Amino acid sequence: MNTNKISIKSPATIANLVCGFDILGLALEEPYDIMTLENTDHPGLEIIHLDDHGLPTEPAKNVSGAALLAMMEELNEVPKWKLTIEKRIKPGSGLGSSAASAAGAVFAANKLLGSPFSNDDLIRFAMFGEKVASGVKHADNITPCLLGGVTLIRSIHPLDIISLSAPELFITVVHPQIEVRTADARQILKKEVPLKQAIKQWGNIAGLVAGLMQGDHALIGRSLEDVIIEPVRSILIPGFEETKRRSLEAGALGGGISGSGPSIFMLSKEEKTAAAVEQEMKQVYAAIGIDFKTYLTKLNMKGITTF
Ligand code: HSE
Repeated sequence: MNTNKISIKSPATIANLVCGFDILGLALEEPYDIMTLENTDHPGLEIIHLDDHGLPTEPAKNVSGAALLAMMEELNEVPKWKLTIEKRIKPGSGLGSSAASAAGAVFAANKLLGSPFSNDDLIRFAMFGEKVASGVKHADNITPCLLGGVTLIRSIHPLDIISLSAPELFITVVHPQIEVRTADARQILKKEVPLKQAIKQWGNIAGLVAGLMQGDHALIGRSLEDVIIEPVRSILIPGFEETKRRSLEAGALGGGISGSGPSIFMLSKEEKTAAAVEQEMKQVYAAIGIDFKTYLTKLNMKGITTF
């Protein structure tokens, strides 16, 4: 292996998984970003975007750059790197675009450095990137992106991460081509939760975790309910209620807003159901007249990979 240069695939993720705001997430097979990090002979971090998303390339303002700077600060070294990013996960899609950049960058850097850091360290560094993107450190996209599968963040201070087992699941996603900024989608949330709603949400989170670990699809389906965040955020997404209703009628187990939106995801037990859900999603957005993209994909059990 050429240890001066490394190329990786960094997957999209779905954070929250409906009821688990900021604590649950899963990784997708598709879409993913492609990133290459290489050693150079001059001090500094050069960032090149091979896409037209107009993202900043100044390291401190760039999601990948901020994560790498946090890593180098801990090493007390000046970076000598060139990072090339081909973003295929659109920023502002709700599919963990910023997490893919932040986690991908620190994963690649750790490999180039000979793996001095643990996964927990990498998650800690990558959260600096999330802070640049949304103003808040959260790990519910970064963790499944890095580790794959379904993950639970029991705590970020101190970091306490649990990988959950899960049955095979097919995941249908529709990304209406409108942008919802995570910072805005967080700003509108109520700061207080009535105890009655909290109890319902705790029941659903526990039910979802149990359903995933026991491979109980019916329990997964009835636990995919969010009484706190979804009612507030869904108003930002035209077609949300209709998409959800028609997807459930088509046989989906359940689903909701992907991360902070605007993407909507649905879980299905079988691929043919997931394909029927995709057709419903296409019809809803074609009728509304909003451009959209759909994905029919699966749980990604590997997380970030080199190639
Ligand atoms: N948990 C975060 C949120 C994910 O919902 O704001 C953002 O992608």
